[in-house]
Amino acid sequence: MSDTATKKKSGGLAGIVAGDSSICVCGVGDHSLTYRGYAIEDLTEHATFEEVAWLLLRGEAPSRGELEAYRLKLRTLRRLPESLKRVLELIPHDSSMMDVMRTGTSFLGNLEPETCKKDHFDVADHTIALLGPMLLYWNLYHLGKSIPEAALNEPSLAGFFLHALHGKSPDPAVRRALDVSLMSYAEHEFNASTFTARTIASTLADYYSAVTGAIGALSGPLHGGANEKALELIQRFNTPEDAKAGIAKMLKDKDLIMGFGHRVYATGDPRSPIMHEWSKKLAELVDNTEMLPVAEAIAKTMWDEKKLFPNADFYSATAYHFMGIPTPMFTPLFVMSRITGWSAHIFEQRANNKLIRPISRYTGPEPRTWAPLEQA
Ligand code: COA
Repeated sequence: MSDTATKKKSGGLAGIVAGDSSICVCGVGDHSLTYRGYAIEDLTEHATFEEVAWLLLRGEAPSRGELEAYRLKLRTLRRLPESLKRVLELIPHDSSMMDVMRTGTSFLGNLEPETCKKDHFDVADHTIALLGPMLLYWNLYHLGKSIPEAALNEPSLAGFFLHALHGKSPDPAVRRALDVSLMSYAEHEFNASTFTARTIASTLADYYSAVTGAIGALSGPLHGGANEKALELIQRFNTPEDAKAGIAKMLKDKDLIMGFGHRVYATGDPRSPIMHEWSKKLAELVDNTEMLPVAEAIAKTMWDEKKLFPNADFYSATAYHFMGIPTPMFTPLFVMSRITGWSAHIFEQRANNKLIRPISRYTGPEPRTWAPLEQA
């Protein structure tokens, strides 16, 4: 047996500790998820997305003064550079919204390279502030509209997003629900997109390359793209009975049920009950009595049949739907939130950098000799 054949491997690096991090822990003990030591339940009950962004990037919660200054900074940074607007206008109206996020971020790297920023917080804060406006500018431009001035002045990202999307100041409960969802999506240790960002950062490539790569990784349906697919699945069924029968058939056919299962959690995703509760409140607010019973029937069938539980994406999908958010914007919202976690990881990687370069176990042909077709 060759040397390489004896090397241990793990499918998809499952269970492999790939580095140290002081940002987040998940899946240690049942239902656990903490950011910088704070439980997700505590944060989504008592904090706001802007506080969580500060906490993830800077390591400690902001003081009241720091928070006010931070909110003002993010609000002031929301205005898109003119040349970025021109680039967004060139992206076709039927493009994937994740491609809009990726292209916009990549172009931002041309306009505002890291070298022209005060420090790395400035780079991250600018990107956090601009991702929402990028998507909404592109979306509204193709509808012959523009972002209302009043939306740009909203104090929170959740308020800005909903105001720009719907053209009016949001209901406070809806704004809070989006804020909670942005907090619950903000960070999740070495998930695929974050690990992508860290891998790119480990080569000493720039911030925007790392974020652009992470956006690509997040777009896949096994990762962030699952929230859009989960809603499409729920919408296939009209009643809980339809859902139960339909899911049982899909499982029999060995179909993948989007919004279920997790690489790290064994018995439940702590973000799911949070978004389930908010889905219930929102369903009542918008007087939708049909969708949630269908979603709950899917969840019950998945547990009864496979002992699989809904992950963060399942009830985020119903909550976003009740907020009146178009399905193709679900995964871009994940980007607007996870940019905080990605940025914290890029900085942490740089602070103690070692090139990420694992090895593979070779399964190809034994050494052999090339038979030339022509004289070199
Ligand atoms: N639907 C149906 N079966 C599923 C499933 C799902 N969503 N998730 C896992 N399983 C099954 C697998 O088919 C496999 O069954 P088997 O042992 O009979 O072959 C078993 O559960 C283990 O799954 P596996 O794919 O090895 O787990 P993983 O850790 O590699 O995958 C996910 C984790 C998240 C990729 C996987 O659960 C999945 O694809 N979920 C749907 C997409 C999704 O919601 N992604 C968002 C994640 S937050």
